Amino acid sequence: MGTAYAPYSNFPVGVAGLVDDGRLVSGCNVENAAYGVTLCAECGMVSELQRTGGGRLVAVSCVNRDGEPLMPCGRCRQLLWEHGGPDCQVMTPLGVQSMSQVLPQAFGAHDLA
Ligand code: THU
Repeated sequence: MGTAYAPYSNFPVGVAGLVDDGRLVSGCNVENAAYGVTLCAECGMVSELQRTGGGRLVAVSCVNRDGEPLMPCGRCRQLLWEHGGPDCQVMTPLGVQSMSQVLPQAFGAHDLA
């Protein structure tokens, strides 16, 4: 969150994820003058996850500038589902929830099988 590039929203976001091999990956939001091109913090984190060897996210914490838990946006819930699955634990404003609670009835790889 401290390195976010958020000159348009002035809403820096940081996210960290614990990977199933013990690695920690992180990300921050990176905005764009064309607002829709903005990269959420989770995008950067998932990119780092893959770049540093892949694996499964087992726990994720996304925070605002005050370090308070932030619910991932809809698209980013889908990203977390892809790389963490239903048992990934997410810190939310209502406490720790599993991805199956955060994104019920998720569309996923199994739907393409
Ligand atoms: N944002 C994230 O980085 N992750 C989310 O899950 C929610 C929203 C960012 C995008 C934008 O830079 C700012 O927060 C305001 O929407």
